Amino acid sequence: MFLWALFLIALTASYLSFQIFVDSGSRYFTSSWGGIHWEKQVRTSAQIHRQNGKVVLVTGAAGFVGTHVSLALKKRGDGVVGLDNFNSYYDPSLKKARRALLTSHNVFIVEGDVNDAKLLAKLFDVVAFTHVMHLAAQAGVRYAMENPQSYVHSNIAALVTLLEACKSANPQPAVVWASSSSVYGLNEKVPFSESDRTDKPASLYAATKKAGEAITHTYNHIYGLSITGLRFFTVYGPWGRPDMAYFSFTKNILQGKPITVYRGKNRVDLARDFTYIDDIVKGCVASLDTAGKSTGSGGKKRGAAPYRIYNLGNTSPVTVPTLVAILERNLKMKAKKNVLDMPGNGDVPFTHANISLARRELGYKPTTDLPTGLKKFVRWYLSYYGYVPGKVVN
Ligand SMILES: *[C@@H]1O[C@H](CO)[C@@H](O)[C@H](O)[C@H]1NC(C)=O
Repeated sequence: MFLWALFLIALTASYLSFQIFVDSGSRYFTSSWGGIHWEKQVRTSAQIHRQNGKVVLVTGAAGFVGTHVSLALKKRGDGVVGLDNFNSYYDPSLKKARRALLTSHNVFIVEGDVNDAKLLAKLFDVVAFTHVMHLAAQAGVRYAMENPQSYVHSNIAALVTLLEACKSANPQPAVVWASSSSVYGLNEKVPFSESDRTDKPASLYAATKKAGEAITHTYNHIYGLSITGLRFFTVYGPWGRPDMAYFSFTKNILQGKPITVYRGKNRVDLARDFTYIDDIVKGCVASLDTAGKSTGSGGKKRGAAPYRIYNLGNTSPVTVPTLVAILERNLKMKAKKNVLDMPGNGDVPFTHANISLARRELGYKPTTDLPTGLKKFVRWYLSYYGYVPGKVVN
């Protein structure tokens, strides 16, 4: 009898804990959106303030590129609605500060996950988006070894959820999304051109971006979605991502902490085609402006829709030691460098974009070199983190 009672109690307890789990699961998705006030905020943010303006859903709007693209669109009079899950891959307070910046320009960011199909359906129900700028992603190359599933969740599952929503929307929006220069993987032929093979990814991050290019192609082929994939090359600048080398180097140099500088095979310096954020924004906006229409409705396409892929780089790779020297000059401080051989954990030795296709078809023409762009970044960094120029605070 006692044992039987114990068994019943255990059964009830496990049922209850399961219920709590299910509840909190759905609460995670539904708590922060919905309601009349919320819908009004979404509609207001989506309002167009110029002739033939676009109405753009920007995913990852509290991210680095997302914030800048949202601002640029809003400033020229397009309607913009942001979407971001504010995850803690890096300091969420930086994302909240970016949101405050967007709020001051009347851009509303919906707090939610791209994997939430109900939320996406609701957004398309409330607003007839003409374009989707899909920038939400799990970034970072090395973090994939710590948390591989987050790359599948954000870069593959979320992409499919988003494309399903776009496919079902009527009218269908045109989709522009962030792929990555990392799809060129271990290629040695430089510069990297869009027609080069991309079947040797060196990281799970790169593999999920490559998968995204394949997945978007099927939605283009079957459902007539207009697709533009942008292969970004090492984007940097004000409001940037703290997980990137130029950002963490700046932090450590200011705090007098050592930085780790990786070196490739045969002691060759690593090099990156660093691309300034304002140039990337121009490429993103030009992609939206030149995107042809989607051709589908009701699960069928009426004709071929455009499928495009562009490199957005700077075409002038800079070595990492040169990057450090430029930072030292701007910060008026010397870095304590630990030079190490690059571990085989996903980084590639160099990147170099061929941008002639983007130049021809988007009018893309980067104008900011690394010294100029880093100067602007350092100025932003010092003011954002409250450093007094010339006075070093730990
Ligand atoms: C750059 O890409 C274009 C195609 O857009 C190609 O015609 C050209 O040969 C490439 N240039 C180099 C140096 O690889």
